[in-house]
Amino acid sequence: MSLFRRKRVEDLQREALTDQSLHRALGPWNLVLLGIGAIIGAGIFVLTGKAAANYAGPAIVISFVLAGLACAFAGLCYAEFASMIPISGSAYTYSYATMGELLAWIIGWGLILEYLFAASTVASGWSEYMVSFLSDFGIVIPPEWAAAPWDHKPPPDAGWNLWRVFTEGWTRTGAYLNVPAMLIVALITVLLVLGIRESTTFNNIIVAVKVGVILLFLAVGVAHLNPENWKPFIPEPEGPGRFGWEGVLRAAGVIFFAYIGFDAVSTAAQEAKHPQRDMPVGILGSLAICTLLYIGVAAVLTGLVKYDQLDVGAPVAVAIDTLGSGFSWLKTLIKVGALAGLSSVILVMMLGQPRIFYAMARDGLLPPLFARVHPRFRTPYWATILTGVCAMLLAGLFPIGLLGELVSIGTLLAFVIVCGGVFALRFTDPHIPRPFRVPMFWLVCPLGVICCGTLMIGLPPDTWARLLVWMALGLCVYFLYGRRHSLLARNHGAADSR
Ligand code: ALA
Repeated sequence: MSLFRRKRVEDLQREALTDQSLHRALGPWNLVLLGIGAIIGAGIFVLTGKAAANYAGPAIVISFVLAGLACAFAGLCYAEFASMIPISGSAYTYSYATMGELLAWIIGWGLILEYLFAASTVASGWSEYMVSFLSDFGIVIPPEWAAAPWDHKPPPDAGWNLWRVFTEGWTRTGAYLNVPAMLIVALITVLLVLGIRESTTFNNIIVAVKVGVILLFLAVGVAHLNPENWKPFIPEPEGPGRFGWEGVLRAAGVIFFAYIGFDAVSTAAQEAKHPQRDMPVGILGSLAICTLLYIGVAAVLTGLVKYDQLDVGAPVAVAIDTLGSGFSWLKTLIKVGALAGLSSVILVMMLGQPRIFYAMARDGLLPPLFARVHPRFRTPYWATILTGVCAMLLAGLFPIGLLGELVSIGTLLAFVIVCGGVFALRFTDPHIPRPFRVPMFWLVCPLGVICCGTLMIGLPPDTWARLLVWMALGLCVYFLYGRRHSLLARNHGAADSR
């Protein structure tokens, strides 16, 4: 049936070699830095404290190890796919080759939740940090122009009642528009249109700043640790999901957000000089470096401050406060590091999204406008501008919580499919050359599906409800446009309806 028609991996490999419209400018270091750019952001600078204070205590360190492990399974699978099919569509293209057009569309549509929504969420966080940073220097941004006009918290008992989830719990915040969030998205959009090399050079600089600041925090923090703060390491349970081992798992689900982004490296496959060799380096290298940094930050944070005082939006700043007034310079530097970190996440997410649109449009599932490459800058400029406009509207009008929840579920869905896809392809197409192979795939792939699937199941029902509505919307677009314009469906010669 045409809905399940797959693209042949050989055709995709040929396409990767022959399509030279995007600029192949990235080496292995650029790819690693792109990954670090996408990973370290709001998760570590904002969420860690709340997860430690409410769920895991000092054992947040274990939560980081567990979430890192789930991501390592997914990362290995991404590395195999990205070296085998180095095309900018990432998980969307991998599903096209393994599970057919309909599932590929569903994943492509789901990835919008990851990339576009993550960029908007992080832009809201950036705005908060910028307002606080400027106020340190006496510059005040009127609050009504630095926040979304609405907030939304669905009633806790709404469960699967979609009507209640979507219509109840909206409140006016008194603000009009989140202007700083919109401005940063606009600036980054312009940069992304101007060129991949310009964008990655900027990314390299801000990644150096954020990693430098984190290393400085670790160095200063280690010298002032109070091991008493680590006792008890796993606090006694205080109710469902609060502390104890259950709390450690719940915290792993929350801080999973901090790891999101390593997969964005795979969307730059058509801009890498040697994608088959360098994609695994970029994906796994960035994931490994960030996992180590995260475990270090979590340990130092909870070693400086008692975990129950970390229920704040800027936990690293609270930790620095304990060092005394002599370290106020470090607090300012941390804000600079956080601003750099959040900017690079927005940049790489907004780099990934248009490239997925580009791949979908080249397959005919989206209008050809999305695949148009700028003759001089060699970037998918229309897709980039449309992504920028959507991200600006989302970041300007919607609250951070509402956007953030959707990011994790969309990402986990992609991870589950990618792990399942690598496993399936080892049996259906065992002879295709795989420059990178997942070691012990029979163990790693199922573990990836189970870990990411479990994290998905742990997300609240209203997030699932929103995912289903988003997917229903996506299916309407597919049946109204994509299915009718699909190149694979039209070009039966190249099609493989196995
Ligand atoms: N991992 C990214 C962050 O923490 C999305 O901001």
